[in-house]
Amino acid sequence: MKKIAFFDAKPYDRTWFDYYKEQFGFEIKYFENKFSKDTAFMAHGFEAIVVFVNDEVDKEAIDILVENNVKVIALRSAGYNNVDIKAAFNKVHVVRVPAYSPYAVAEHAIALLLALNRQIHRAYNRTRDGNFSLTGLTGFDLHGKTVGVIGTGKIGQVFIDICHGFGMNVIAFDPFPAQGLDIHYVTLDELIKKSDMISLHCPLTKDTHHMIDPEKLSKMKDGVYIINTSRGGLIDSKALLNAIKTQKIGAAGLDVYEEESDLFYEDFSNTILQDDILARLISLPNVIVTSHQAFLTEDALCNIAKTTLENFAAYFNNDPLINEICYQCNKSGSCNKKHEKRCF
Ligand code: NAI
Repeated sequence: MKKIAFFDAKPYDRTWFDYYKEQFGFEIKYFENKFSKDTAFMAHGFEAIVVFVNDEVDKEAIDILVENNVKVIALRSAGYNNVDIKAAFNKVHVVRVPAYSPYAVAEHAIALLLALNRQIHRAYNRTRDGNFSLTGLTGFDLHGKTVGVIGTGKIGQVFIDICHGFGMNVIAFDPFPAQGLDIHYVTLDELIKKSDMISLHCPLTKDTHHMIDPEKLSKMKDGVYIINTSRGGLIDSKALLNAIKTQKIGAAGLDVYEEESDLFYEDFSNTILQDDILARLISLPNVIVTSHQAFLTEDALCNIAKTTLENFAAYFNNDPLINEICYQCNKSGSCNKKHEKRCF
């Protein structure tokens, strides 16, 4: 039976992996530790490992895995900005779950938007305290408002469908526009200037890092809402905080935060939060922070487990690794996978 080391394991991860593992014939050892160069040695004796979004799969960690004969790193996520795919190339295969439920993430983005606009978080606290006043809870109709969607891949498209259902005017920016869909594309500059709400659905890369910076924030409409369920590094958080303090930004719904990796998914309720920007953001009535939970639906967890185990089965059976990624995949014609079963 092939042995798999599963890092950063949480109770909700185990349910579906345990359900499917015997069907696939794998033995899984769950480690609560996050994966990094400091814990990579724990993969000794395993041919494959499973990691998540805040595990640090850098060159040093990869070299330790290779020394320990690990053959496959499986991300139980779609995003892979936390993996040095160049360092892994030719040494260890990297697979991911490209789509497990775009609905889960798009619906969470909508949940943040609705909660902020209709002040559900504040109303919840008020009524529990016997305060039935409505003062300060005025929202606005989403119907007829303009929402700017940055990134129109799988999640962005579902988000757009939902917004159309609300009767919103949707404009979008993507350097690779989706073909054949009813999406009104504009330039990023136009989107920034015209939107009442902006939702981010693009990956974090060196080109998109801090794409929402002081200059873009200054060009936005006064009172704009910003929703980020993609990756924290897309937004310059300090600049966002300043723009909220000056009331340039009307509200922010953040499922991700650029310095989240040491905080999110853990309980720090008995300690003093040292990150002053996050602490200030959380303290604001017009900001909702959730801890990277947009993916967290039963449907998504089931799909993540099944696809991850299918990825391992494909590797061990020498089948095509359709969900493999490498640094050459996006360079036209240069990745082996176009002609062969695998990236290398
Ligand atoms: P996708 O790959 O289907 O779509 C991403 C889109 O972004 C593509 O159409 C691409 O052309 C576009 N894009 C690339 N560079 C861009 C740029 N500079 N400006 C605008 N658009 C750009 O990915 P999918 O599945 O829709 O996921 C989007 C992101 O959502 C992921 O990269 C990931 O970071 C995040 N995510 C967050 C989760 C959460 O739990 N909060 C769960 C799953 C994904």
